Amino acid sequence: MKFFVDTADVKEIRELNDLGLVDGVTTNPSLILKSGGSIADVTKEICSIVEGPVSAEVVATEFKEMMREAETLAKLADNVCIKVPLTLEGLKACKAIRTQMDRMVNVTLCFSANQALLAAKAGASFVSPFIGRIDDIGLDGMELIAEIRHIYDNYGFDTEILAASARTVNHIKQSALIGADVVTAPPAVLKALVKHPLTDKGLEQFLADWAKTGQKIG
Ligand code: E4P
Repeated sequence: MKFFVDTADVKEIRELNDLGLVDGVTTNPSLILKSGGSIADVTKEICSIVEGPVSAEVVATEFKEMMREAETLAKLADNVCIKVPLTLEGLKACKAIRTQMDRMVNVTLCFSANQALLAAKAGASFVSPFIGRIDDIGLDGMELIAEIRHIYDNYGFDTEILAASARTVNHIKQSALIGADVVTAPPAVLKALVKHPLTDKGLEQFLADWAKTGQKIG
């Protein structure tokens, strides 16, 4: 399973990348706002740190303008993956970007299995179902991941399921169990994966006993 980090914070990306935990990055207009930088500068810097796909989102809602923005974003770096919304215009742009520009496309804001089916038919490289936002309205985000996995496997679609809006370590575990290809999560959630109270307790005990031996290694 690939780990993408869901942030435009360059410092956090660098830290996680050094830990070997970053296979790619997802950004969106809200994350760019939070970063305080320009989309061009921030995206370029992230792409210089991370080798994998870095999603940068178009903000136009109409096909022609989406294509113009996609071309601008694609020029920033070879590993920019163009993010388009799951609308009819977005799907049209997805198909055109894949066939005419030969670029990766991440179709975002997916909230139903039928939408994911459309993204696959448009040739998306990734589809982003938003687990956390589905949970927020009292439904089960994981159920959607399972449905999409089932449908894609039925037909051999090679669009990768990018479980997005992951807010907890349990979202990551469930996505892995179901077989999502990728999960994107904020840095704090990725770092929390390492935590277990028995690891902390065990380490504390080993270090205490080691001190009693009075030995040193090397
Ligand atoms: C995915 O690409 C989005 O940037 C992200 O996962 C949205 O997460 P949120 O619902 O926590 O804002």
